[in-house]
Amino acid sequence: MLRTAIKNTLQSFEKGLLLSQKPLGLYAIPGNRSFHAAGSSLAPRGGHDTAHEERPRILITGSLGQLGSGLARLFRMRYGKDNVFMSDIRKPTRDITSKGPYIFADVLDYKCLQKIIVTHRIDWIVHFSALLSAVAEANVALAMRVNIEGTHNVMELANQYGLRVFIPSTIGAFGPESPRNPTPNVTIQRPKTIYGVSKVHTELLGEYYNHKYGLDFRCLRFPGVLSSDTHPGGGTTDYAIQIFHDALKEGRYTCYLGPNTRLPMMHIDDCLRSVVEIMEREPESLPVRTYNVAGASFTPDELAAEIRKSIPHFEINYRPDHRQAIADSWPEVLDDSAARNDWGWRPEYNTKRMVTSMLNDLRPVYQQSHGIESDVMTKQQLTVAA
Ligand SMILES: NC(=O)c1ccc[n+]([C@@H]2O[C@H](COP(=O)([O-])OP(=O)(O)OC[C@H]3O[C@@H](n4cnc5c(N)ncnc54)[C@H](O)[C@@H]3O)[C@@H](O)[C@H]2O)c1
Repeated sequence: MLRTAIKNTLQSFEKGLLLSQKPLGLYAIPGNRSFHAAGSSLAPRGGHDTAHEERPRILITGSLGQLGSGLARLFRMRYGKDNVFMSDIRKPTRDITSKGPYIFADVLDYKCLQKIIVTHRIDWIVHFSALLSAVAEANVALAMRVNIEGTHNVMELANQYGLRVFIPSTIGAFGPESPRNPTPNVTIQRPKTIYGVSKVHTELLGEYYNHKYGLDFRCLRFPGVLSSDTHPGGGTTDYAIQIFHDALKEGRYTCYLGPNTRLPMMHIDDCLRSVVEIMEREPESLPVRTYNVAGASFTPDELAAEIRKSIPHFEINYRPDHRQAIADSWPEVLDDSAARNDWGWRPEYNTKRMVTSMLNDLRPVYQQSHGIESDVMTKQQLTVAA
């Protein structure tokens, strides 16, 4: 560890990146300390602050996207609100800033990230900033910067300051040559999107830093994530959220994927719980650093049939677009047995429960306001994606 610290410090001096003159003993190695949250099970909603004694200080990049605010809420319940720093390049709402610290952080700005880590004594980074699949295909140059260069910055700083780092991967990290049903944890990965290429790069680089420097890198490959209170960011699985809005608002939905396109999905509660669970594991209890996690797989046709059990007049039409080719190269079913065996991963939502939860959450929104705001947001994002 000392040799790694010296080497990292010298490398950083070479790059002229260090603000401080003190080469050794400068960095605490919080990634190697144990942090504890009392209580073994998570309380995703309405829980209380269960943390005690030593609490990690956590930075979440890209936290104004679909996953960030929910994760901040969970972490704050466990470690205290002032220990969790949400960040993004977007302007936050008052609601966000009223709930805990929010700071500007552009992941392309190394010094800006470095200053945040030092000033706020960050121990863990959850790196969510990214351009998702459909948006990335439409902006390849920007996707390479945000998804690859941004990840380099985060990984290098995490290594330099001894942080624990979580960076999600995706089913998009697989390609048409990968076995699709089920897709194992370790298999051929030849993605055909820049999003997938950038995520394979993240997985390999994180594992390399872990192997070479002992970086405490942790990575989960998420399927499409279903959430009712945050908007999808322009991924190929977004249909599985929009369908609920349109079902409740219009009674019908036109799907950009064909009826039999089977993809893995998970409920956001399961997704966020998986992040907390893997982050709280001791480093030595994780024999590998990249794991598939999954909830349930379904097709648009099967999802529509499940929705029809609650909304019998619901109709679905199909008009596949460019996203069909992306979906056709992705897994149909993710094999998450490695995560189940190594650290006890268990999803709590099957397809039926996901549908019930989405309809129960969204029904009051459309009964009261006809969901004008959420519809506008999603259309903007889909315009960018197209
Ligand atoms: N949501 C899913 O279904 C899903 C599935 C698999 C993997 N993931 C991964 O999870 C992570 C979070 O996903 P999400 O759905 O919340 O994404 P999102 O698109 O909703 O949010 C990404 C955020 O990154 C921010 N961002 C963009 N450029 C930035 C920059 N230069 N600096 C800082 N922030 C920047 C954006 O403002 C946005 O708020 C991503 O890495 C994504 O690849 C998500």
